[in-house]
Amino acid sequence: MFAAAALAGSLVAAHTIAGTAPQATVQAAPTRPAPPTQEVLPRKAPTTVAPGSCLQCHDALTKQVIVHAPAADDCSICHTQQGKEHRFTLAAPGAALCTTCHTVTTPSDKFVHGPVAVGDCMTCHDPHGGANPKLLRAKGSALCETCHVEMKARLAESRFQHAPVPEDCTKCHNPHSSPFKYQLRSEGASLCFSCHKDVERGIAGAAVKHDAVTMGRQCLNCHKAHTADIRPQLRGATMPLCLKCHDREVAAPGGTLPNIKAWLAANPVAHGPIRQQDCAACHKPHGSENFRLLKQDYPPKFYSPFDPQNYELCFLCHQPDLVKVERTTTVTGFRDGDRNLHFLHVNRPEKGRTCRACHEVHSSTKPKHIRENVPYGSWALPINYESAEGGGRCAPGCHMPVEYRRAPKETPKS
Ligand code: HEC
Ligand code: HEC
Ligand code: HEC
Ligand code: HEC
Ligand code: HEC
Ligand code: HEC
Ligand code: HEC
Ligand code: HEC
Ligand code: HEC
Ligand code: HEC
Ligand code: HEC
Ligand code: HEC
Repeated sequence: MFAAAALAGSLVAAHTIAGTAPQATVQAAPTRPAPPTQEVLPRKAPTTVAPGSCLQCHDALTKQVIVHAPAADDCSICHTQQGKEHRFTLAAPGAALCTTCHTVTTPSDKFVHGPVAVGDCMTCHDPHGGANPKLLRAKGSALCETCHVEMKARLAESRFQHAPVPEDCTKCHNPHSSPFKYQLRSEGASLCFSCHKDVERGIAGAAVKHDAVTMGRQCLNCHKAHTADIRPQLRGATMPLCLKCHDREVAAPGGTLPNIKAWLAANPVAHGPIRQQDCAACHKPHGSENFRLLKQDYPPKFYSPFDPQNYELCFLCHQPDLVKVERTTTVTGFRDGDRNLHFLHVNRPEKGRTCRACHEVHSSTKPKHIRENVPYGSWALPINYESAEGGGRCAPGCHMPVEYRRAPKETPKS
């Protein structure tokens, strides 16, 4: 009877041992009184104790949601008793207590996480168990944010968070160690591809590839891993990102590409989307089915038989009637009376002029993005375009100087 009563008493006591430090249990915050089941009894560690009797008092440790296998098995695996006394030393110091059974770092792991390097496994794991899987002291990113307060602050301050980051840092970082910087689970694009399979397939299957995704920091040339102020996870507006590399001539499969930054500086009349700093309005940054990584079709050559599908790029923003209707007094300013000169030049079964015959696409010096020159073999034929009140005129290398006027010409009096 007596023994049973004593055991019952210590059972209740043991429940309070488990989670909280003794003082904290005694000085329960006034706003949160201890729940009735957690009756607080005064208790003291017994001075002596019989080996193997531990669970009589400490059974709360083995009644948690998750119990560490050796804790359920035998306390003396880790706690070495001092004779018959209730005094214990740990079987090994620091990480050595754990690494007898677990290997979390291998010699090829050049990057070891700070707390692991100093052998402090217990900062993240409870050696006995608890409510969270893997014996963790907190769940998901909250565990990491207890120390990485700067990252917590960055997440709170930024406009956009990359979905896995507030959820679970360990989707990308090994909490212990790895062969890659910042204990990343893999390096460069392959880390990103582990989730973004669609992007990986898109890049592998693209007819026109872009070295920007394979050179330097790969995906991180343009994207940020954790937070961003510009969607989707971009380091900045696309134009400055693109011009980080396109600020010089670059070698491409089809020949050398011009220095776009220098071109934009020398040709200050910028096309609408460029004024918006948005190169991605027309180009696909990862790779594309179309010539020059364009979002939609655009003829690669100077002449092209007319098919409205060829110009889908321009028609993303401009109306197709521009080149589809033969007579108009509204859809274009490039007309003589109601004769649509866009139709005349572009809409031909063979040898239709593509837009590039007359327009610059990025920026120009002339109004309406008319080019100064047209490439003709190795020559550059000047167009000599001038806009005029109610029309315009040009004196190109391809035909005699001509003028157009939108207002119908005055019919001579008879
Ligand atoms: C009769 C009840 C009782 C038994 C049996 C008992 N303990 Fe304890 N133990 C306590 C109490 C009470 C404390 C003090 C609670 C506290 O400090 O949180 C304590 C504290 C401890 C501590 C922390 C203090 C220290 O010395 O580091 C360890 C470790 C511990 N016990 C291990 C054991 C092990 C291992 C066994 C079995 C060999 C065991 N106990 C058996 C009641 C008991
Ligand atoms: C895998 C090793 C391991 C096993 C097995 C183990 N412990 Fe512990 N125990 C520890 C370590 C390490 C600490 C020190 C915890 C710390 O520093 O946070 C500890 C601390 C304690 C404490 C102090 C209070 C606390 O929770 O921190 C008690 C009580 C305790 N152990 C009891 C037990 C009992 C009873 C068993 C068997 C049911 C047991 N331990 C099994 C590693 C172990
Ligand atoms: C005597 C061997 C032994 C020691 C010492 C030991 N463990 Fe374990 N540990 C195990 C076993 C067995 C499992 C259960 C493995 C399983 O379920 O696959 C386990 C499971 C774990 C798990 C959970 C793995 C999972 O898949 O859920 C973690 C985390 C862990 N141990 C951490 C530690 C830490 C931290 C220490 C040092 C305080 C430690 N272990 C010491 C044997 C040990
Ligand atoms: C910074 C926190 C942190 C530290 C320090 C830490 N771990 Fe872990 N550990 C984790 C997290 C988070 C997981 C679960 C995610 C995972 O499995 O990668 C984990 C998982 C584990 C597992 C289960 C492995 C598996 O593959 O399921 C074991 C075993 C383990 N840790 C042991 C240790 C040991 C031993 C140490 C000390 C050398 C240690 N941990 C230090 C955070 C930590
Ligand atoms: C106990 C505190 C603590 C916890 C918890 C913690 N870390 Fe750390 N972490 C550190 C320390 C200390 C460093 C080393 C800092 C240094 O070298 O400047 C570090 C370094 C890092 C680094 C490398 C940073 C750099 O600039 O080299 C990464 C990445 C990292 N931790 C991720 C994590 C992740 C992911 C988690 C959660 C699984 C986590 N940390 C949990 C303390 C912690
Ligand atoms: C989607 C994958 C991913 C997730 C999830 C992730 N990280 Fe990172 N982390 C990275 C990458 C990639 C780098 C390297 C960034 C670089 O080189 O600019 C990095 C670098 C770091 C660094 C060092 C450089 C820096 O930016 O300060 C720390 C610290 C860090 N991460 C902590 C965390 C923490 C804490 C979490 C969870 C709150 C987390 N990471 C979640 C991918 C991730
Ligand atoms: C653990 C899985 C995982 C990894 C690894 C990962 N991502 Fe993500 N990422 C997601 C999820 C989930 C989303 C949100 C759903 C979506 O848009 O597909 C997302 C969204 C994105 C977005 C779109 C954001 C938006 O605003 O629409 C970009 C860009 C992105 N990730 C880039 C990266 C880059 C770059 C890497 C490598 C550094 C990477 N991701 C690694 C899971 C991951
Ligand atoms: C040259 C800059 C650049 C590089 C390098 C880059 N991206 Fe992007 N990414 C962008 C831009 C710009 C967008 C938005 C595209 C849009 O709005 O049409 C984007 C969109 C995304 C999206 C969301 C939309 C989608 O396509 O699913 C994901 C996910 C993404 N990128 C992942 C990646 C991954 C993974 C890598 C590395 C293999 C990578 N990016 C490399 C610039 C880049
Ligand atoms: C990290 C450097 C880098 C960044 C950033 C970058 N590029 Fe490139 N780009 C290149 C290189 C190198 C080439 C030539 C090799 C090739 O074609 O991939 C190229 C080629 C191109 C081509 C011609 C592709 C062809 O083969 O016809 C276009 C168009 C282009 N980039 C547009 C962009 C746009 C738009 C951006 C911004 C979203 C951008 N680039 C950002 C490095 C970069
Ligand atoms: C309005 C759509 C549009 C926008 C916006 C745009 N481009 Fe282009 N880009 C094109 C077209 C169309 C071509 C093909 C030009 C040709 O062959 O006549 C091209 C060609 C290129 C080329 C190949 C070299 C060349 O001049 O033919 C590069 C590199 C390039 N663009 C980069 C950029 C960069 C960087 C930006 C942002 C500053 C940008 N583009 C914005 C439509 C656009
Ligand atoms: C992403 C949308 C977009 C695409 C694609 C686009 N443009 Fe534009 N374009 C604009 C905007 C916006 C303006 C500026 C309109 C304004 O200032 O009123 C503009 C203006 C122009 C102008 C000058 C009009 C004026 O009144 O100054 C010409 C010429 C032109 N675009 C030709 C083209 C050609 C050729 C293509 C295809 C290669 C094309 N655009 C593709 C958005 C686009
Ligand atoms: C033969 C030269 C020529 C060709 C080819 C040409 N344009 Fe034009 N375009 C002009 C001229 C000249 C203007 C200026 C009209 C004016 O305002 O006087 C113009 C004006 C424009 C405008 C401004 C709105 C308007 O219609 O007045 C747009 C948009 C435009 N062109 C788009 C295109 C597109 C898209 C293509 C290819 C499908 C194209 N152009 C082909 C000469 C040409």
